[in-house]
Formats: sequence, C-alpha cells, structure tokens
Amino acid sequence: MFDVDISKGYVDMPVPEGVDLVAEIERMKREKNAVVLAHYYQSGDIQDIADYVGDSLALAQWAAKTDASILVLCGVHFMGETAKIICPDKKVLIPDVNAGCSLADSCPADRFAEFVKQHPGYKVISYVNTSAAVKAHTDVVVTSSNAKQIVESFPADEKIIFGPDKNLGNYINSVTGRHMLLWDGACHVHSQFSLEKIVALKKQYPDALLLAHPECKREILIIADKVGSTAALLRFATQSSCKRFIVATESGILHEMKKSNPDKEFIPAPPDDASSCGCSECNFMRLNTMKKLYNTLKYELPEIVVDEAIAREAIKPIRRMLDISASLGI
Ligand code: 13P
Ligand code: SF4
Repeated sequence: MFDVDISKGYVDMPVPEGVDLVAEIERMKREKNAVVLAHYYQSGDIQDIADYVGDSLALAQWAAKTDASILVLCGVHFMGETAKIICPDKKVLIPDVNAGCSLADSCPADRFAEFVKQHPGYKVISYVNTSAAVKAHTDVVVTSSNAKQIVESFPADEKIIFGPDKNLGNYINSVTGRHMLLWDGACHVHSQFSLEKIVALKKQYPDALLLAHPECKREILIIADKVGSTAALLRFATQSSCKRFIVATESGILHEMKKSNPDKEFIPAPPDDASSCGCSECNFMRLNTMKKLYNTLKYELPEIVVDEAIAREAIKPIRRMLDISASLGI
C-alpha cells in the first residue's frame, strides 16, 4: 500500500494541479465499490457528491444496509465509529479523524461508567453522539429522530439515565412526562443560539417559522414552531406552506433545505456574541473537505478503528436502536 503521512489526522498530500475533484471522486467510488455517506452538516459540495445524505439515524441505517466494500463517513468521528461497529468487516474511512464532537467529549467513558455504577437499577439510554466506549455502558442508543419513541417504549415507571445531552434530555422529559436522570453535557454549536437575536428576527419577519434542533437550549425550544432532528426539520420545511424559516441548527442543513425548496427563504439563527466564530457552523464537521475526501478515497486512509472488546458491547445498544426503530417504522 502507499506510504503516506496521516500524523495530522488526514492524508497530508497535495492534490495534483488541474485534477477534477468531482470526476475523480466519482471514478474512485465506482472502481473501489465505495460509498460516501454524508451528514446534513457537511459543506454543500460534499453533500452533492455523497451517495447518501442524512441525519445520524439515517447514516446508521444506511451503513447497516449497504453492500459496498468501503464506506467513507463524511461526518464526525462518533458517526464513523457507529458505522464501523455496525459493519466490522468493511473498511470505514473518514476524511479527517480530528472531526470530533464537543457533546461526545462532554461525556468521558470512565466518568459515565462511574455515574452508571452509582445508580443501580437504572436503564441507560445514550444519545448516538457518544464514543463507542460510552455506548458499551448503554442499554439502548437513540438519535434525535427516535429518542422520544424509544424512551416511551420503556414502562412509565422505569428509572432511566439519559446522556450526554441535557438539552435533548430535558426536552424528551418535557414531551414524555418522564423524569430521566440527565448527564450534564451539551453541544457548543446548539447551545450558543441567542434568544434575543432570534426574537428580534421573528419581529423583523413575523411570517417566519422557527425550526430548532432539540440540542438547543430550553428557552429556544419553547418558542420554536417545530422541534426535531435535522431530517424532521427538513421534512417540516418542505411540507409547510410557509415561505420563510429561521433555522436553529448547524447551517449545513440549509443546503438541502434550499435545494428542496427553491421558492422558500431560510435564515440561519444567529449565535450569541460570545461564540468564537460568530456563525452556526460546527468547526468539527467542517474539517472534512473535498480535497481530504479525494485523498481518503485515493489512499484509503484514515481508517476508523474500534477496539474489538468495546465494539462487542457497543453493538448491542446500537442494534437495539435499529431494531426498535424498524419495528416503529422510523
Ligand atoms: P441529527 O443528525 O440526529 O439531527 O443530530 C444532529 C447532530 O448533532 C449531529 O451531530
Ligand atoms: Fe457534535 Fe454539536 Fe458538532 Fe453535532 S454540531 S457534531 S453535536 S459538536
């Protein structure tokens, strides 16, 4: 195989001058029986070249179905890990392994395991935005697309630990009437949206509907017209007769929203002034680029590797999620 430098977490090779990235990526996908799975938070060019674009649940479901030999996960690391755990015999690649997740990082596996140990008799429900090691301490994994239904599949008096996103956990508690014990984690992108600026936008555009991801803070969710996963927000915007939306989630979703609804206007919700970039982009998601995707396909690196013992445990709650979702038609 090639001797290439991946010490930076991606293939650090120049792309030859004049290369048509789109044509080359398409050619390599065909020749290598590879598929590109992209999350809605990827840049538009990556979404356009992907074989599948979806939310976290759809990415896991597609990984479970594909007969490709190579999966390139254009998303963040936990998504690559989940795909690898579902498909241990396939090569799972990610353009940049530095694509982490502040929410997953807010829940170190050793501290989570200790928390679980301190609460015997509790069922453990973990958001997919966790490391494989956290999933290994979990009874069932959920995504924002199926969290409510999966929580409701447990008896009403079941004692439940939910981690790591306290905003999603609070939201699920509020819509199900449950009292799940929550881990104190959050996403740095979704928790930064400014209520004040959103209210000002609503005044400026009184006809606009507010779409919010459940990782947003409670104060945003309370005034939202629709709360849902990226896929649910996209579906809502497409089916709605409204022509203008304020979107409180990572702004990559605007690409597909605009593509599917060229006659509608989508305004990214503004973050508060204290946020570092002043935009609603996830810096981790945006580490993946077309050049890195090209090199990943060319050199088949970097590869996602999951410790076998951890994977043996982590597959159980992931399978449970996929099975429950299939039985509920999600
Ligand atoms: P969904 O893909 O489930 O909407 O979640 C978004 C997310 O935060 C992924 O990082
Ligand atoms: Fe993680 Fe937040 Fe980025 Fe999603 S948007 S990958 S939850 S840091």
